[in-house]
Formats: sequence, C-alpha cells, structure tokens
Amino acid sequence: MSPVKPFLKVSTSLGDRVRKALMRAGLLDTDYRIESESNMLFFPLQQKLETHRIHSIVGNETFETGVRRFALVSRTPRTLKDALGGRLTEEEVELLPRSYDLVGDIAVLEIPAEISQHKQQIGQAFLTAHKSVSTVLAKKGAVSGITRTREYELLAGENRTATVHLEYGCKIAVDLAAAYFSPRLLEEHQRVARQVNDGELVVDMFTGVGCFALHIARLSRSRIVAIDINPEAIRLLEQSMKINRLKGTIIPIVADSRDYVLNNYDQNVNRVIMNHPSDSSQFLRQACKAIRRGGIIHYYEFAGEQNPEQQLIEKVATLIKRNGREVSQIGEVRHVRESAPREYQMAIDLIIR
Ligand SMILES: C[S@@+](CC[C@H](N)C(=O)[O-])C[C@H]1O[C@@H](n2cnc3c(N)ncnc32)[C@H](O)[C@@H]1O
Repeated sequence: MSPVKPFLKVSTSLGDRVRKALMRAGLLDTDYRIESESNMLFFPLQQKLETHRIHSIVGNETFETGVRRFALVSRTPRTLKDALGGRLTEEEVELLPRSYDLVGDIAVLEIPAEISQHKQQIGQAFLTAHKSVSTVLAKKGAVSGITRTREYELLAGENRTATVHLEYGCKIAVDLAAAYFSPRLLEEHQRVARQVNDGELVVDMFTGVGCFALHIARLSRSRIVAIDINPEAIRLLEQSMKINRLKGTIIPIVADSRDYVLNNYDQNVNRVIMNHPSDSSQFLRQACKAIRRGGIIHYYEFAGEQNPEQQLIEKVATLIKRNGREVSQIGEVRHVRESAPREYQMAIDLIIR
C-alpha cells in the first residue's frame, strides 16, 4: 500500500506557481505523484510545514494541509545511458549505439568492438529503457550467402529471432536468423505496391519473406508470383498470408528464379520485381523473357563511388538490349537506403518495349 505523506492542497489555478515554489524550496517529494480532485491539487511534501512557510509559498491564497496516501512515480529510464546508470565510463558512453533496428518486438543493435565486454549489460539496459521490446540482439557479421542472412547473438530478453513486424498495416512474419528481412525497405515496398493495378500479373523474383507481395496483395486485385530459393522465407510468407486481409492472390514458390522464370513466362508479365541488389544483373535474361511490352521492371542494385548512378543506369539498359529487349523509358530512379558509407541501394523503374 502507498505511504501516507503530508500534503499541501491548493486550487488548480495556482498549481504551476505552487509547484515551482515547492521545487525551489526543496519541499516537494518528487517520488510521489501530485494528485488532483475536483479543481484542487494535492502536493506531496517532504515534511509537515509550518503555517508561515506555507504563506511564503501561496501568499494570501486559500490552502489546506493534512496527510493522505500518494501513488509512487514510476521511473523508467528514457535513454540507454540513463538505464546504464553510470556503469560505463564517459568514453564508453560516447560509443553506445545511437540507432537500432526495430523488427516487431525485437531490437537489433550494433555494438562497437571497443565496448563489446559490456554487451550483455547494454542489452539489459536497452530492455529497461524500451518496455515494448522483448528481445535485444546484436548483429554478428554481415549479410552473406545465397539466402542473404546473418547470425545474431542474444544480448537480453527472450531467446528468439522470430516475430511479426508491421509495415503500413501489413503484418509480416519474420525470422531474422532464417530469412532475409530489412525494416528499412517499407517505403519502397509501399511505393511499388501503389503502382500496381487490378488484374496485373506480377513476378517477384527474390521475394524473401514476401514483403512486396504482401503490400501489393493488400492494395490490389492482382496476382503475384512470389519466388525465393530459401524455403524458410516462403514458409514465413505463407504464415503472413494467413494473418493479413488480402485482395490479391499470392502464389508462393520455392525455386531458383533463374530456371523458374525462364520456364514459366513468355512476355506475359506486367511487372517484374528484382530486389536482389548484389546479384540482380545476373537475372536480366529471365526478366527480359518474362516482361510484356509496356511492362515495368523494378530493378535494384548498389551504387556508390565504385559504381556511379548514371553508369549503373547505362549498364542496365545495355544488358536489357543484349537480352533482346529495349528500355522505352526510365521511370523513377530512387535512393532506397544507405547500404554502407557512401553506398546506396538504388531502385530503377524501367519501362520495357
Ligand atoms: C535482398 S533479399 C530479398 C528482399 C525482399 N525482396 C524484401 O523486400 O524484403 C534477396 C532474396 O533473394 C533470394 N535468392 C537468392 N538467389 C535466388 C535465386 N537464384 N532464386 C530465387 N531467390 C533467390 C534470397 O534467398 C533472398 O531471400
């Protein structure tokens, strides 16, 4: 039960002036909440006050004193630094991660090597400061291999890498250790989905956990063939299909897009999505065979000092020509996200004739 404290009761209209005066005099007990009841405020006091002291605070205004119960103020530290409560040196605090990825209720941090000896404490402090987070993970290495996944290390909270992430109202089942997912692509997923018309046939050649497919199927009565070589990614997409209300139809396929697209489509697809930025150029033959005249290829690749933007656009147009098709128009060209210092994931919308 909350403890009994001496109080000073004044009219709400005096609240701000009295609160400041009590604070200045060090008389307000800030561990307890100021309570209000029908236009009156009750200030919890450090000690019982003599009448002349109260007059020095409220002047000639009416007041009452007495004792009553007050609720404790809940003190949740707001920042990682606060939550660590002085356990790191000033230099170490400077190295704390300033940003993090939030995937559903999982936070993913990058802990610099110089403070890695404190990583468990940092994870625990992160949990204390962020009440809606259940799990804190640290990235272990870069995304690699054909499935574009990486390893994670548990810092604090529940030991899991699976969760449900929300993008523009779209529920996405994710397992960070099992299949590629980035929470930094939501704008791009939505941008493409908004372009799709009812009745379109869309082929998403590298669907991952199916974000493009889910966004599109929520917005239009289209048909989306969502292909990934990683069976875990498609298993997660199938889970998401059950928990979203979809207008369109998603056809999830576990396959190598190299063969699947060549064998199944012949200039009858309205839109091909090629979001595999480290490797998309290797699959333009397939996309060129599938896309219909006037269709759109959403092409993704990294651009930076090594691969400047204009050079990239010219390279893609040349590769398309080499595969027997032509770019009739370049639609939007967009920096999707910074993938490394001075390197961007680019999106290029190519209208094909
Ligand atoms: C960058 S991720 C896709 C991201 C996804 N489009 C999104 O927006 O979240 C690339 C994906 O391509 C898949 N992949 C790699 N090679 C493939 C291939 N030959 N055929 C089909 N999928 C492939 C990987 O398993 C991975 O899920």
